[in-house]
Amino acid sequence: MIKIAPSLLAADFCNMEQGVRMMERAGADYLHCDIMDGVFVPNISFGFQMISRLNEITDIPLDVHLMIVQPERYIERFAEAGSDLITVHAEATDHLQRVLKQISQCGKKPGVVLNPATPLEVLKYVLDDVDMILLMSVNPGYGGQAFIPAVLEKVADLRRMIDASGKKIDIEVDGGVDLSNCMQLREAGATVLVAGNAVFSAKDPERTVRELRGEAE
Ligand code: DX5
Ligand code: ZN
Repeated sequence: MIKIAPSLLAADFCNMEQGVRMMERAGADYLHCDIMDGVFVPNISFGFQMISRLNEITDIPLDVHLMIVQPERYIERFAEAGSDLITVHAEATDHLQRVLKQISQCGKKPGVVLNPATPLEVLKYVLDDVDMILLMSVNPGYGGQAFIPAVLEKVADLRRMIDASGKKIDIEVDGGVDLSNCMQLREAGATVLVAGNAVFSAKDPERTVRELRGEAE
């Protein structure tokens, strides 16, 4: 069954707890937390303090997406703050395999993120080191952008690559995911869908989480 990871970037920052409780009622599988440093991406979001408060108030696992340069500088701190999964961009570090090991040594699940134009080849030699691969379906930095359709083929290619390896690795997709493309993403082989605006701007966010998962109402 597909997992849904609502992105808190689209929640009301002054009513974050309300957003979290809503996602608990909706049965969200992860809370997707977008960490932006204003350097790797042209935007700044939130940091450790937010992760550690979220960790205190909810049992939903925290899926922490680091959009920061040289993520190796901050892995321990994000781990201590209460992240469950930590994903780092292949484009943001010269030592991808080392960072992935650093994450698992902290007792957290490691994942790699690829921007839309980054080829899958960079994953070939780190498949042993990841629990999840996150394919961006927008250029990271902002919520509410349009889904890039070429990523559907990339998801299918990655599905084949993972199946051929015999490993159990989740494929997460992030950016512009909504009710119009979630079915195609599932069919292409995605197992975790991030959704920000599609969930938090919906009339009924809880129902939208279930619809994204393909559950009949
Ligand atoms: C983009 C972030 C996404 C974003 C998704 O840089 O990584 O997680 O919050 O938001 P939507 O679903 O609105 O595109
Ligand atoms: Zn994200």
